[in-house]
Amino acid sequence: MQEVIAPARSISGTITLPGDKSISHRYAMLAALAEGTTKIDNYSTGADCHSTLGCIRALGIDVEVDDRKVTIHGRGLDGWRAPVAMLDAGNSGSAIRMLAGILAAQPFTSTIGGDESLSGRPMARIMKPLAEMGARIEGRDGNFPPLTIHGQPLHAIDYTLPVASAQVKTCVLFAGMFCEGETVVREPMRTRDHSELALREFGAEIDVQRRVITLQGRPKLEGRELTVPGDLSSAAFFLVATLLLPNSSLLLHGVGMNPTRSALLDFLVSIGASIKILNLTQTGGELIGDILVKSAPIQGGLLEKEMTAALIDEIPVLAVLGAASENGLEVRDAKELRVKETDRIATIAENLGRMGVKVEVAEDGFRVPGKQQFQAATLDSYGDHRIAMAFSVAALRANGPCTIENAEAASVSFPEFFSTLRLIASEPRP
Ligand code: S3P
Repeated sequence: MQEVIAPARSISGTITLPGDKSISHRYAMLAALAEGTTKIDNYSTGADCHSTLGCIRALGIDVEVDDRKVTIHGRGLDGWRAPVAMLDAGNSGSAIRMLAGILAAQPFTSTIGGDESLSGRPMARIMKPLAEMGARIEGRDGNFPPLTIHGQPLHAIDYTLPVASAQVKTCVLFAGMFCEGETVVREPMRTRDHSELALREFGAEIDVQRRVITLQGRPKLEGRELTVPGDLSSAAFFLVATLLLPNSSLLLHGVGMNPTRSALLDFLVSIGASIKILNLTQTGGELIGDILVKSAPIQGGLLEKEMTAALIDEIPVLAVLGAASENGLEVRDAKELRVKETDRIATIAENLGRMGVKVEVAEDGFRVPGKQQFQAATLDSYGDHRIAMAFSVAALRANGPCTIENAEAASVSFPEFFSTLRLIASEPRP
């Protein structure tokens, strides 16, 4: 599917975003392992989180979906049933990596795979700690989906993550629920802590000391009523759109502000953005608030180390902002971008290049000089939702309409993206 995006004069209005993708996955999986019913409000509308629902259904869990409200009838830690067919994680790295931790401890064998992009994503990072816990998992070339998981009793480990990854941390913690005693995960850098907060919310005993997380095995999880905050990573596209166009102002309602995710806001403010947080409150241990953003001159800057890790999903759209900023943007220590839904360093560079924007590529990042003009072009998501959305935002600044090829990829995390963009973008510039 193609989308044509016309250049816009400005951005204005008020929007509410669908539920956070990371939190939705975790709530669904834990609800399926809890005793009793969980009601989740504002569940992500993205295809990824619905892949998770499809998988847990295939594992014998009763799931009702009514638009953004999801009801899950949990069957307890030992209640999942063997699936009759391969589990389909679709495009979702979170679904396959987190579910693998649970499947590894089941008294049955299962196979889990997904689409072409997912089939090329590395799984050795979860296979290694799970093997240390006693799991038996086979993957293509020892690293890639589909994974055949011969479930069996696991034992607790003390694991130091070699790469900062919340998905791997979660996989080990979820497997740790099935072990006797304490499972410990040590992080090289702090990553998003939605699993820790959700485990606690469902009733698990979990202790977090800086970057060391300790989970007591065999928790008794109980069904809950939960609301998923709006997705800050989806908000990023509209924050950048507002910053790219003069005389713009946007209010985003009910957005997740978890401190392990909100580095995006700190970075934007540090490079000149005008951002106000209003009505900050908590739900399910997660911070949630409204964001008021207004256009302002953006300086540009450097992203490296912990900051890169904390902003990894937002880098495609920050690259676009960087090219329009005063001094440009340099991104380092971002090798992980090469193993996301696409090699994002390559797909960012390719699309910037098509718009006539200069970019220097490195193995672990890139540099875009500032003050660049965006030429109208045909752009391509290459099947990657964040590339589809980042370059639709870039198109708003172009000197004519841009076509986004494979635009349907946006629905992996944000099916309402294009309709929301049209709602807030003013009439095309002449
Ligand atoms: C996620 C963790 C990150 C992120 C992904 C979602 C999560 O991946 O890029 O979009 O929900 O835990 P890694 O754990 O591979 O860094």
